[in-house]
Amino acid sequence: PLLEPLPSIPALYSSIGFSLFAFLATIYLVPALGPTFIKARLSGRDLLKVYDSKIPREETLIPESLGLVCASIYILSLILFIPFAFTKPILEQVNGNKSHQGITVVEFPHYQLSVYLSSLLSLLVATILGFLDDVFDIRWRHKIPIPIIASIPLLMVYYAEHGNTNVVVPIPLRFIFGTLINLGPLYYIYMSLLSTFSTNSINILAGINGSETSQALIIAISVILNDLLYLPWPVGFRIPLHLLGNHTEVEFGGVWSAGMAHGSRELVERHLFSLYFMLPLVAVCLGFLYHNWYPARAFPGDTLCYVTGMAFAVVGIQAHFSKTLLLFFIPQIFNFLLSCPQLFGLVPCPRHRVPRFDGDTNLLYPSTASEVEFPKPPTKLTTIVLNVLALLGLTKLTKDPSTGVITNATNLTILNVFLLRLGPMNERHLVQVLICSQVAGSMLAFFIRYGLAGLVYDG
Ligand code: UD1
Ligand code: MG
Repeated sequence: PLLEPLPSIPALYSSIGFSLFAFLATIYLVPALGPTFIKARLSGRDLLKVYDSKIPREETLIPESLGLVCASIYILSLILFIPFAFTKPILEQVNGNKSHQGITVVEFPHYQLSVYLSSLLSLLVATILGFLDDVFDIRWRHKIPIPIIASIPLLMVYYAEHGNTNVVVPIPLRFIFGTLINLGPLYYIYMSLLSTFSTNSINILAGINGSETSQALIIAISVILNDLLYLPWPVGFRIPLHLLGNHTEVEFGGVWSAGMAHGSRELVERHLFSLYFMLPLVAVCLGFLYHNWYPARAFPGDTLCYVTGMAFAVVGIQAHFSKTLLLFFIPQIFNFLLSCPQLFGLVPCPRHRVPRFDGDTNLLYPSTASEVEFPKPPTKLTTIVLNVLALLGLTKLTKDPSTGVITNATNLTILNVFLLRLGPMNERHLVQVLICSQVAGSMLAFFIRYGLAGLVYDG
């Protein structure tokens, strides 16, 4: 048989074992290394807390960039796992050599090894970039191209495998484009932009305790759930999946049927690869969330945002499910689009856009783009954009009562939108709302992918 049933994939069990190790290591090392980070001046004040003025400033500092500890444990687990991931081909080589007097009969899967190694390379670049950003506060225009460069090894490996650059056209558009269109180089540009998006989008939905870590955790769990759908489960487990609709059945039929085609074996292997990268990621995020949860004893820094974002780009590209992956980023996509006027200079963008904290009520309120009012009156374009956003309930404007000119606006972030729509709340509550929206986003993603897709694609 081409495909082994799930219980005989030993590498998967090793991966779970390494993830447990990664979880325990994170739980233990984050508080143990915190003071070392503070000593190295990698620390920050929690912007949304009040401190007694009698307590010296040094004692209120919270270690920052502990994402570096998470990234190190994560990458270390992935490196230690390499021989386990290739146990089967290694055994085949040894046995093949024995039985055929030194002649290897089974080809070693060099391609899979290069996928694995190039992924590690991209993760390492992301870690370095994130850490440099924590230390030097790199400017936006400098840090945006770096993930694109970091994705070149991934794209080269994708290319070497004669990577598919065809896109299946939805049924309603087929009369124009046909069933398949080949995007060619555009597809590579799209994939390299994916890495920039996934790394930066988590970083700009940040600033309240547990926000960065919980986003990464939920996206990683969603990716794992999606991967599990593609594994060759024993018969008894298959039934619930049939409920997922017609499209799914067509796709899974191949994986499950007895005489499995080569294509489905590849599909399983890709999703196993994704699992090997996502399981330890969930482990380190879970371990870190324990220390980062309100009230936070450690901050992730940009390092965690970059390394988790790159991990998602890696599995999305290498396991060929980048469009499904993007569906798990619905809150981040919304937050990014909403942030555009501030990121691209239409509306002033302060160093921190976190909600405003009121120490007396212990509640968070929407923060404003300028402390008092905009330094200069908004241009026509800015006025139109802000008015449209205000009409949609996504920002609250302050206007000059006599002239009607906009003088201030709340910061354009999803966290402020929650506060505007649901009213002031405390930090723990706000992060719970964020988590709920991320979970709802993932549920919607599964619905779109396996429910709606059946309507516009024929499987
Ligand atoms: C991004 C956001 C910025 C937001 C910041 C908060 C954009 C364009 N940039 O900037 O608006 O204010 O993240 O992380 O949207 N902090 C807390 N509580 C937390 C986490 C962080 O108070 O739970 C504070 C700490 O002072 C910490 C600092 O935020 O030192 C870290 O900010 P940093 O990650 O350097 O900000 P950026 O990623 O550049
Ligand atoms: Mg940050």
